[in-house]
Amino acid sequence: MKTLVSGIQPTGKLTLGNYLGAIKQFVALQNTLEEGDEFFVFIADLHAITIPQIPTELRNAVKSLAAVYLACGLNPEKITLFIQSEVTEHAELGYLMQTISYIGELERMTQYKDKMQKQTQGVSSALLTYPVLMAGDILLYNANFVPVGEDQKQHLELTRNLAERFNSRYSETFNVPNPLITKTGAKIMSLQDPTKKMSKSDPLEKSCIYLLDDEATIKRKIASAVTDSDGVISYDPVNKPGIANLLTILSATTLVPIDELVNKYKDANYSTFKADVAEAIVNELKPIQARYNELLKTQELDNVLNQGREKASYFARKTLTKVKRKMGILRK
Ligand code: AMP
Ligand code: TRP
Repeated sequence: MKTLVSGIQPTGKLTLGNYLGAIKQFVALQNTLEEGDEFFVFIADLHAITIPQIPTELRNAVKSLAAVYLACGLNPEKITLFIQSEVTEHAELGYLMQTISYIGELERMTQYKDKMQKQTQGVSSALLTYPVLMAGDILLYNANFVPVGEDQKQHLELTRNLAERFNSRYSETFNVPNPLITKTGAKIMSLQDPTKKMSKSDPLEKSCIYLLDDEATIKRKIASAVTDSDGVISYDPVNKPGIANLLTILSATTLVPIDELVNKYKDANYSTFKADVAEAIVNELKPIQARYNELLKTQELDNVLNQGREKASYFARKTLTKVKRKMGILRK
């Protein structure tokens, strides 16, 4: 029996990079679950507010992300989907874990150092304690595995340290969780600068395909993707990063191996190839978008989120009671 936990922040519009690098992997993972396994996927709204958010936009983003997840194929019969703030034990365990974390180890986190520099109106203390809240998210469900991107490895390392520290200070309580890092090939690059990651915070719209882009937009963005001038389709990320990126996108989308694609397109020109890449993306995203729009209109989304909250709360309450008892803060 194993437990998986992962959270996603409801900030910015999701890109094809998020889909191919993370969401598609979650869907694949859900299909490997066995009887008794649990997979908790939550929308990390408490993490999002560690930097200033516009409340109405945040509320929409939470709902939108939930709909995207279901539309992409996460199945509420197999996984537990919920909103972090609705299971109040997250904040509570996050606080309790703060009592065993050190300021020094938090100040060393790379993501904190990066994000801190971008703050113009003061750095919130929650930005510093963000990784402790994340540790709480994971330990609350006693996770064995945490599927995350490479950038979250350091936070996972901290979670492992905190789990061990708690266990040695108060007796064996938590599993020490392992990261499940997305496999390679799942790093989708910017369409305008293929040496940079496709990122939802990129101000240049043309550099990203967004999950909710319409057909014409997708075609236009792929047609204007930066390539090179030698006219040969081969996989060479160093010298031909643009073509390599399009091959990666096509392969990750259609699940056809890259060498087969290279062979198929060896006599094709860039515009034919690009047209096929665009079409493959459109074919992949169209049903997702249709389902997304449907989900936003029905009661189904709320039902799934309510059910997710109830199930997650049950597990969370159990852990929290145990933790408090060990720390000596329950009357009995
Ligand atoms: P972020 O957009 O940084 O909040 O990341 C959310 C998830 O999507 C993480 O698991 C990332 O590793 C993944 N992700 C984001 N951008 C890309 C990309 N360009 N290629 C592959 N995976 C990505
Ligand atoms: N910090 C993660 C990110 O920015 C999101 C996250 C919050 C998370 N809590 C988590 C991921 C717990 C995995 C497990 O991507």
